[in-house]
Amino acid sequence: MRKIVVLTGAGISAESGISTFRDSGGLWETHRIEDVATPQAWDKDPALVLEFYNQRRKKLLEVEPNPAHYALARLDDHFDLTVITQNVDDLHERGGSKKVLHLHGELKKSRSTADPDLVYEIQGWELNLGDTCEKGSQLRPHIVWFGEAVPNIMPAANLCSQADILLVIGTSLAVYPAAGLIDYVPHSSPKYLIDPNARPMPWIPNLTVIPEKAGSSVPGIVDMLLKET
Ligand code: APR
Repeated sequence: MRKIVVLTGAGISAESGISTFRDSGGLWETHRIEDVATPQAWDKDPALVLEFYNQRRKKLLEVEPNPAHYALARLDDHFDLTVITQNVDDLHERGGSKKVLHLHGELKKSRSTADPDLVYEIQGWELNLGDTCEKGSQLRPHIVWFGEAVPNIMPAANLCSQADILLVIGTSLAVYPAAGLIDYVPHSSPKYLIDPNARPMPWIPNLTVIPEKAGSSVPGIVDMLLKET
């Protein structure tokens, strides 16, 4: 089976009603990264950090996958497909995708501050001070904060190095190492960048830029790929 890798960012969830980060009105316009998304922020004011993620988790429980998420899941039966996402929402999973690799963590999970291998599902939308792991240590959001290592980056790079086709959907490609994954994809493999604000990237070989929203364009792209099987 041909291997497809899909690299997604906040833009694929925008039409589900989830804020992006760097669009107008995005999360980084209303919050300072250093206040809510760094280890230093956690040390300084864990309650503020928990509240930032509680509000995002509460919103996530109110939204649904959009046609782009559902369309990608249609590829699973005909391609060896992996979705590599920078998103911490679970919309790819709820949209039916079977193989989803989260680079920046998962909003619906918490992690022990004493043992990073202890990861738990969060019931409901709140994670609060005093919520502890089985070893009695405070639980933190299971999120990769700025300045922290991205544990899944090498498996992601390995997948990209074997990709016959790459779809890049809804990411500004502003944050590394995730943005560097595109460089691991073989030059000969066709690549599609779907983003209404996508800028030309002439240095990327075999790239087709589709300056459209994910919800309206990804189903058609999936139909095109399925016709090729
Ligand atoms: N369809 C497709 N793309 C869209 C849509 C849409 N409906 N709406 C917005 N976009 C595009 C924007 O044009 C932008 O290029 O989605 C992109 C979102 O970019 P960012 O807000 O920077 O989000 P992302 O690329 O996912 O950020 C990467 O940065 O803050 C960290 O950890 C956070 O995972 C995040 C990482």
